[in-house]
Amino acid sequence: MRVDHAGECGASQYAGQMADMWDQEKKHLSKFNEILAENRLRLTVLLPLWNIAGFALDFEGPMACTLAVEESISEHYNSQIKALMKRDPEKYTQLLQMIKEFRDEEMEHHDIGLEHDAEST
Ligand SMILES: [Fe+2]
Ligand SMILES: [Fe+2]
Repeated sequence: MRVDHAGECGASQYAGQMADMWDQEKKHLSKFNEILAENRLRLTVLLPLWNIAGFALDFEGPMACTLAVEESISEHYNSQIKALMKRDPEKYTQLLQMIKEFRDEEMEHHDIGLEHDAEST
């Protein structure tokens, strides 16, 4: 959850994204903010790093970075889904549903990035 939160924190700071994608990132982030607060989880020690990365990405090719970020976040969500399924799918039904939804949206961001990249080349 802490890594999810950190990733979404970086994504939502990343101003190179298109408006509708950014709205989804803000939704993802606020969801993890809630979960962390409800469970009294401390923010990840990686958080400052992600924040810096979010800003740094603005100065690189925005779409190339979007592709890389969306891909690694999707992969992270996928391994989290597998882990939760293995542990207790009944107990984590709601969480699984949320992470799957976010994973699908990240994959959508990735595809939008690909299309955009193809158009510009
Ligand atoms: Fe996201
Ligand atoms: Fe995304």
